[in-house]
Amino acid sequence: MFEWSISTFQPLLKKVRAEGLEPPWIAPLDPKSSASANFATPAKGSANVKEMLCLQKTYVWSMDLSYIINHLGEDREKYFGAVAPPIVQSSNFAFDTVEKLREAFTQEQEVNLYTRGNNPTVEILRKKLAALAGADDALVFASGAAAISAAVMSHVKAGDHVVCVNKPYSWTTKLLQEYLPRFGVTATLIDGTNPQNFVAATQPNTTLWFLETPNTFTFELQDLSAIADLAKARGITTAVDNSYCTSIGQRCIEMGIDIELHSASKYYAGHSDVVAGILLGSKKTVSHIFKTEFQNMGGIISPNDAWLMLRSLRTLPVRLEKIAANTAKVVAFMQNHPQVEKVIYPFSKNFAQYELAQKQMKWCGGLFTATIKAKNVAQVETFCDGLQAFLMAVSWGGHESLLIPTCSFYPNHGYQHEVFPFNMIRFYIGLEEPEFLIADLKQAFQKMV
Ligand SMILES: Cc1ncc(COP(=O)(O)O)c(C=O)c1O
Repeated sequence: MFEWSISTFQPLLKKVRAEGLEPPWIAPLDPKSSASANFATPAKGSANVKEMLCLQKTYVWSMDLSYIINHLGEDREKYFGAVAPPIVQSSNFAFDTVEKLREAFTQEQEVNLYTRGNNPTVEILRKKLAALAGADDALVFASGAAAISAAVMSHVKAGDHVVCVNKPYSWTTKLLQEYLPRFGVTATLIDGTNPQNFVAATQPNTTLWFLETPNTFTFELQDLSAIADLAKARGITTAVDNSYCTSIGQRCIEMGIDIELHSASKYYAGHSDVVAGILLGSKKTVSHIFKTEFQNMGGIISPNDAWLMLRSLRTLPVRLEKIAANTAKVVAFMQNHPQVEKVIYPFSKNFAQYELAQKQMKWCGGLFTATIKAKNVAQVETFCDGLQAFLMAVSWGGHESLLIPTCSFYPNHGYQHEVFPFNMIRFYIGLEEPEFLIADLKQAFQKMV
């Protein structure tokens, strides 16, 4: 049987899309059989079974999100038919024979030997996350920062260089500009809105291009397919922080990116009660990271948190849908409010990269940024302190709406900054009714005058 792999899948998918071929020329998936064992009916003109198997993977994602979320990776016969899988809260797994133990040592990524490597509860989660992203495999970390560090550190050695987009998540900047230079690794941060800037900043020792699209404050995008093609032609690995969109909202792996990363503390966990990170990629990439940074640094998710994430995954699409609908209404209110100067939101028609956002993002999240017509920091504070339905907190992606004003970053009240002016506020819209949030915004604006 042909092995499915990202390297065969990506060019094929491009070809298929270019020719305008779409399902239903792929046979329906039988939910009782395992996804990968299900062959499709060869389409007119399709080259061979291998192609069909690859295409079946697209179908699994595009048509059977519900199958992935509800059934994939779950083996209910093993646990009394329980609908919710057990939390296997065990660090250690025992073997009856030396032969079996010896075998386990050779397959630590798949076998349950010790929970720093694999664990049955975590394994269900890994399978679902990989399928959601169209990746071969997933690793789940104790935080998004741990996943990002593992991705970067597994692709550099002393003397190497990284090109990274401007304004990534703050701890990504610190990793590249403060931590890794201690080990002889340097980085150049560039404006990623033009793919050619990655090429221009590349040096003979560049091994990795690091992307984050959109970023989570001012939302600049990078063209994922264009950058992936440029990197492949140069033998450079690409990694993207896809926390803003999730794998449902942006298909980074299908667009040719090698490593997809998430702060799962955001939408995946979705209830502001878990800190976790996800790394996704090809079998080869994930195995390499599993044997190095994952096991060595040991920043793994606990079975209990993996179980909470499994529970959250059941409602991920529903939550994303509601968040997008709520956000659209709140954004529209803010855009029309006389005390608002500007709103930045990738799916707004006046967003600088609106067309690219429409092209590569299937979904736009709950984060948007607004500058308000405040004369000074005191007025911004009056507005923010006056909001009652919004919590002032940093980590978005949960059920609750949030805000974070840029003036909270700086001890100096007179602070002026061209990227983060004092009157800028980042909002996150959660699952509350938009009318409830809009009423709260209205009363806080009134307090400002
Ligand atoms: C875009 C982005 N990437 C990565 C991270 C880091 O994730 P974590 O907090 O789970 O370590 C965050 C956290 O806020 C984030 O916003």
